[in-house]
Amino acid sequence: MASEKQLTVVTCTAPVNIAVIKYWGKRDEELILPLNSSLSVTLHQDQLKTTTTAAISKDFTEDRIWLNGVEVDMGQPRLQSCLREIHRLARKRRSSDDRNAPPPSLSYKVHVASENNFPTAAGLASSAAGYACLAYTLAKVYGVEAELSEVARRGSGSACRSLYGGFVQWQRGEQADGKDSIAQQVAPESHWPELRILVLVVSADKKLTSSTSGMQTSVETSALLQFRAASVVPTRMTEMIRCIRDRDFATFGELTMKDSNQFHATCLDTFPPISYLNDTSKNIIHLVHRFNTYHGQTKVAYTFDAGPNAVIFTLEDTMAEFVAAVRHCFPPEPNGDKFLKGLPVRSVQLSDKLKAALALNPAPGGIRYIITTKAGPGPQVLDSPHLHLLGPDGLPKPSA
Ligand code: DP6
Repeated sequence: MASEKQLTVVTCTAPVNIAVIKYWGKRDEELILPLNSSLSVTLHQDQLKTTTTAAISKDFTEDRIWLNGVEVDMGQPRLQSCLREIHRLARKRRSSDDRNAPPPSLSYKVHVASENNFPTAAGLASSAAGYACLAYTLAKVYGVEAELSEVARRGSGSACRSLYGGFVQWQRGEQADGKDSIAQQVAPESHWPELRILVLVVSADKKLTSSTSGMQTSVETSALLQFRAASVVPTRMTEMIRCIRDRDFATFGELTMKDSNQFHATCLDTFPPISYLNDTSKNIIHLVHRFNTYHGQTKVAYTFDAGPNAVIFTLEDTMAEFVAAVRHCFPPEPNGDKFLKGLPVRSVQLSDKLKAALALNPAPGGIRYIITTKAGPGPQVLDSPHLHLLGPDGLPKPSA
């Protein structure tokens, strides 16, 4: 056990991000280098975040990690890879700058506890927030001030985009060592305050194919993926950055939907094929298109990752009407979860004309609940010791 004085403890939080130009496929499995650049929106941590505490002490005898209160194997290659990268950066800092106080001894073992403020069972991508938070917290506890894309990326590719708030691109990079494959902020979250994001949590079982293995098979078998990476994504990245800079929602939304559809098309082009969307996902797609057709413009857009949950982008003035449309098509189960979580949404009546235009048979319970949120900031350090997930003995607090 470590006594309080000998313990260095840091607690940080990191956000979830949702890609509007998708990362799918690696050109280097070891370094986790992507085939193409990608771009995401960082979600607000008031609704979705990971909290991680890291503690180092000379009294610890081994590296240990607890996820959502359960101890898991710290020997996992991706965890080890993140830890190795942090140690490398800490050593580099020490040798390059002698004026700084030397960082705490790198030979100290680390204890880590991490938890999400959203249920893992919701099927939301938690690995991005989780590895971004791990990279950020380890950097703080070992006194590393370097750019952390490489550390987070070693845990999960998409995690490097969760190191920044707002709108973030992960550049593919050209170098074989991956030094230029880094995440960069395109615009801060304050840039587009009207933008709203709705996570539609769809009733479903656990996903069948992980992103890691799915994209590996796509790289091996899908000709469409190669075409996408070489000929489609570069132009889309430029156009998407322009849409964000100009706050051009109609084009942003259209591009977001097209890119999600092309990603799922590459999944179907993979052999054997992969399908992440279920019937509810497909009906959400119809709902969005019919809603937009009714309004004569792109007012809402969907995107789907490696699972059936939809993430919807819209603007503040459209959110209430769209939520009413979702309720109409997917009436909440009377005894189900609270249907709306997150930012408050006004209750509005749908017009009969819009109901008729949606023309979908109501599917009760198809959507379990909706999380309403907006773009948010990157990782944060929490100052108060009572927020640490590890106690003075370096073990998870009973509530953690
Ligand atoms: C569909 O980052 O989870 O969400 O690098 O193998 O850990 P690994 O994959 P991961 O893949 C995310 C894929 C995606 C699209 C995206 O977030 O860009």
